[in-house]
Amino acid sequence: MEKQEIRTFGRRHGKKLSARQTMLIDRVLPTISPTNLPANTGKILEIGFGSGEHLREIARQNPGKIIIGAEPFMNGVASLLSAITNESNTVRDEYKNIRIFADDVRDFLRQTDSQFEQIWILHPDPWPKARHEKRRLLHAEFLTMLATHLARSGEIIIGTDHWEYFDWIKNEVSKTALDARTPDLQTIHTRYQAKNMAGTTMPKYLVIKN
Ligand SMILES: C[S@@+](CC[C@H](N)C(=O)[O-])C[C@H]1O[C@@H](n2cnc3c(N)ncnc32)[C@H](O)[C@@H]1O
Repeated sequence: MEKQEIRTFGRRHGKKLSARQTMLIDRVLPTISPTNLPANTGKILEIGFGSGEHLREIARQNPGKIIIGAEPFMNGVASLLSAITNESNTVRDEYKNIRIFADDVRDFLRQTDSQFEQIWILHPDPWPKARHEKRRLLHAEFLTMLATHLARSGEIIIGTDHWEYFDWIKNEVSKTALDARTPDLQTIHTRYQAKNMAGTTMPKYLVIKN
């Protein structure tokens, strides 16, 4: 029997979706799934995009690239769909390069051989209680697997305001052959970052390369 994978995310569903959001999930989401991706176009992946503020920003900044977001929390997916579509429920021109995998990124990575120029992970769930530590996504084994999906000179960019998780991730990287540096990035604004539940003064960032 296959070993059950430990769940790294909290909820898949939050408050009831509006009729429009449900319609967007039924009709638009299937049309922007990350299948049949062209081989010769640059690709960027964001893992756990939440409501997708940062995903939309990188989609606008990189019109010639495909931006793939993975997120199992359906209310977040619905918020992103509302933000990228117009009144006639068509994806707006500036967001036509977005593809969404509405589930666990590990399932997506198992089914693609795509290589990414950047892989963003902003505010990964910190699972602060000791008994939940096993739920943390960014352990050495996952990071090593993730790095096999990096294009040449590609980077994994991680940001978290949970400094204990930050140090824990750095320690996990040290168990791998990967290279990590702490860049001086300006704060990247996302919904979770604005909540600053860890109560720290700023998020810390880590850039990982092969
Ligand atoms: C704390 S939230 C941060 C959301 C967003 N990046 C932000 O900064 O506002 C972490 C997100 O990661 C998602 N997540 C956790 N495990 C994941 C996985 N295995 N694959 C994809 N997303 C995951 C959760 O559903 C959640 O939305």
